[in-house]
Amino acid sequence: MPMAFIKVENLRKDYRISRRSRGFLGLLANLVAPRYTVKPAVDGIDFSIDKGEMVGFIGPNGAGKSTTVKILSGILHPTSGSVTVDGLVPYRERKRHVQRIGVVLGQKSQLWWDLPVYESYDMLRYIYKIDKARYRANLAMVQELLGLAEFFEQPVRQLSLGQRMKADLGAAFLHDPDILFLDEPTIGLDVVAKENVRNFLVQMNRERGITMLFTTHDMQDIEKTCRRMIIIDHGRKVYDGSIRDIRAMYSGERELVVELAEECLNLELEHARVVHQDGRVKRIKFRNADIAVQDLIGHLNRHYAIADLELRDTEIESIIREIYRDGAVHSAGVR
Ligand SMILES: Nc1ncnc2c1ncn2[C@@H]1O[C@H](COP(=O)(O)OP(=O)(O)OP(=O)(O)O)[C@@H](O)[C@H]1O
Ligand SMILES: [Mg+2]
Repeated sequence: MPMAFIKVENLRKDYRISRRSRGFLGLLANLVAPRYTVKPAVDGIDFSIDKGEMVGFIGPNGAGKSTTVKILSGILHPTSGSVTVDGLVPYRERKRHVQRIGVVLGQKSQLWWDLPVYESYDMLRYIYKIDKARYRANLAMVQELLGLAEFFEQPVRQLSLGQRMKADLGAAFLHDPDILFLDEPTIGLDVVAKENVRNFLVQMNRERGITMLFTTHDMQDIEKTCRRMIIIDHGRKVYDGSIRDIRAMYSGERELVVELAEECLNLELEHARVVHQDGRVKRIKFRNADIAVQDLIGHLNRHYAIADLELRDTEIESIIREIYRDGAVHSAGVR
């Protein structure tokens, strides 16, 4: 049997968090015997990814996504379990590993803050020992596809969020990586910029066969780019399978709670329904697939006087809730 390209087995990562005692005696105690609590951030995750796959990696805040990505990138050591990426153990064979991977962390630029983008790129060319012809070709490609020319000479710290993300994305491709780890590369981007990033990634995956693990909070990112999705929650895998299947199995219904300024018995809604009402407070259910939140709110705003609005959980949180409710964890949904 051929070995999986990326293989993660029973992966665990505990963070040690120091627990400080208070007061003078506590201060002494902290010095003599520091105490720790252990936080399991990744709590026994398994998955494997084939060469050329593009997989969405999704889950609520604190689920363990970034921790997993950091371990796969060789930035962090796991507490236990095993990881191989194209036959290498990332955190042991870092030097060879980093030559093969690209990493984009939406929250943190990999570029030099004070250098113009082109000088950062030059540095990367030097660090990765990219030969001239290859560098030129890759640079021309990312410049064209991402439209870098406009800000190529500006220091990274001056760039807008969207420009910075494009610069970071381009940088990740200069050394021809086989694998790309993306941790929220669309965070904070507007609709158009998100679409550009998605298209760019899909193109890189299709044309160059680059294997990608794509973390995001935006389900649309995944729906528009990946066929397969892994969902984690509290450090555990709760779903691994196709996006089409999860759409068929779970509604992913979200809830909007609206308080109207005036009484109204029957709200008229399209693609959404009132599931509960208590005087002027209405609980409305809807699916992202049927109507966008802003359209639903826009509709309410046009037709009713709204006193207050509260959007309860994201689509992914709602799907996770449904998965738990069905008891599907570790059975049907998980492959
Ligand atoms: N350096 C650290 N020290 C201690 N705890 C940490 C550290 N980094 C992360 N954690 C904790 O580990 C858990 C998983 O964090 P992680 O950043 O992997 O989550 P995430 O899925 O990426 O969340 P988000 O969607 O918010 O980015 C969280 O409870 C977090 O508080
Ligand atoms: Mg994260």
